[in-house]
Amino acid sequence: MECIQRFTHRLLPIQPTVAQNCFNSVKHSPFRAYPAARFGLTRKPIFSPTSCYPRPGLTPELITRRSYGHSSRARAGWFLGIGKKEEELPEIVKAGDPVLHEPARDVAPEEIGSDRIRKIVDDMVKVMRKAPGVGLAAPQIGIPLKIIVLEDTNEYIGYAPKEETKAQDRRPFDLLVILNPKLKKKGNKTALFFEGCLSVDGFRAVVERHLDVEVTGLDCDGQPIKVNASGWQARILQHECDHLEGTIYVDKMTSRTFRTVENLDLPLATGCPKLGVL
Ligand code: CO
Repeated sequence: MECIQRFTHRLLPIQPTVAQNCFNSVKHSPFRAYPAARFGLTRKPIFSPTSCYPRPGLTPELITRRSYGHSSRARAGWFLGIGKKEEELPEIVKAGDPVLHEPARDVAPEEIGSDRIRKIVDDMVKVMRKAPGVGLAAPQIGIPLKIIVLEDTNEYIGYAPKEETKAQDRRPFDLLVILNPKLKKKGNKTALFFEGCLSVDGFRAVVERHLDVEVTGLDCDGQPIKVNASGWQARILQHECDHLEGTIYVDKMTSRTFRTVENLDLPLATGCPKLGVL
């Protein structure tokens, strides 16, 4: 799942990273935001009258966040004078690829703990952090296995307005890797919020999710895990477990709320349900 709704607009913390990226390609924060000029991209900011927070010093080049493949960066290397090669990581599979629309299979007992599964998990964590995102399911790197990874950090959360993260009940949690997760919805409380997906880059829509869930599964060593989650973590778990069933959020969104990230702050159309806990 994508990091935060208004991530692309949070410029101030990104700027030092961009400066670092220009001179040092080896180490970069997960909040990378490559200057658009480097890739010939230009995207004008759209100032929404409903925006509830200031965007000082907005630089159009910096509001674009896109997942660039290694090839793009490799091509940019000559321009940046970068010689070092980055580790090859799988690309994130985008909507339309059948792997996102078919159920994944369980990791078999004999596969658990194998080098192959460990490598898949390792790649998933790296891909999620590089994106950056707060969750990823194995089908999103083209592997139809029931594996999910998720984490949320104070740093990520710090980019969203406090009132928003409070309403979403969004709190940090450590990296979770779950093999063969089984999700149980608890209670009947639900909430409506915008969410995004790394496989549907650049868009958001309102999705109704349960507020409380319990997920059981296995860790990388095959040990049982049980996670009781609420609020935003419960949303991430539902989003990622949906991927394992071949469902992406657009399959269950309130379709009239579907919009580009740039239009996120625009008011909801007449007839759309209100955001928040139901
Ligand atoms: Co997703």
